[in-house]
Amino acid sequence: MIDIDERSITRAVLKAQAGTGNARLKEVMDSLVRHLHDFAREVQLTEAEWSLGIDFLTRVGKITDDKRQEFILLSDVLGLSTLVTAQSHRRPAGCTEATVFGPFFVSGAPEIENGGDIANGACGEPCFVRGSVRGLGGEPIAGASIDVWQSDDEGCYDVQRADLDHAQGRGRLRSLADGSYHFRSIVAVPYSIPHDGPVGQLLQHTGRHPWRPAHLHFMIQAPGYETLITHVFRSGGEYLESDAVFGVRSTLIADWPRHEAGVAADGTPMATPYHSLTYDFVLNPVAPR
Ligand code: BEZ
Ligand code: FE
Repeated sequence: MIDIDERSITRAVLKAQAGTGNARLKEVMDSLVRHLHDFAREVQLTEAEWSLGIDFLTRVGKITDDKRQEFILLSDVLGLSTLVTAQSHRRPAGCTEATVFGPFFVSGAPEIENGGDIANGACGEPCFVRGSVRGLGGEPIAGASIDVWQSDDEGCYDVQRADLDHAQGRGRLRSLADGSYHFRSIVAVPYSIPHDGPVGQLLQHTGRHPWRPAHLHFMIQAPGYETLITHVFRSGGEYLESDAVFGVRSTLIADWPRHEAGVAADGTPMATPYHSLTYDFVLNPVAPR
């Protein structure tokens, strides 16, 4: 095809990639090209703007390494992560909702017994967390693997602290025979997502803040059930209505009451004030094949 113009360029690219062998790849690439070209036509993208866009993506790539994933952050702030998560986990009513994974999960977190402390030295007011893991039919799920991770009271995950050589604020436990679980940690606080790079500049230029409401991350896995990746948010806290990465679901908001010094529900004597959180998870059975 020659004499390509601003309209026929779309057809030319679709024709050029018509031989894509993988049907799904063809569907995705054809749609991507159509939408990309329509976008450029709709906003009448200028050469200067296109060049700025290339420079932005280049900086996103350059700041990304094995500790920092700016592309995921970009996807998060654009709402793409939430969209893909939501359309990939259309669960029946009654199941716990999924939300964004975020960049701070680490596989192989320290294993703890029920009642153990995942804070492992992280600073913050103590928090006792308990609840259950059940299937949609109400059946208790014993032995479910429960990964938990959170930031400290300065809003930092352990992996963001260069001075730390061990896990803090993360751990893995298993639900007991009756499906219950309980562990100790510190209370979660709001924190800002990394905003010293190109994604932070994008937020600034679009009049947005980088804050996330206080939350605790969970990943729960059990044979015969869909893996659940979610958070539990702290009711009444800041940024629930304006989470920078659009992760909040009202069903995931729970009370984390603060108690004066005394004896915690698991019998631990507490000399200082502490918090408690109770949250029950409901997993979706995997459809029989
Ligand atoms: C998080 O909750 O850990 C998170 C999620 C998305 C972007 C940045 C952080
Ligand atoms: Fe988080």
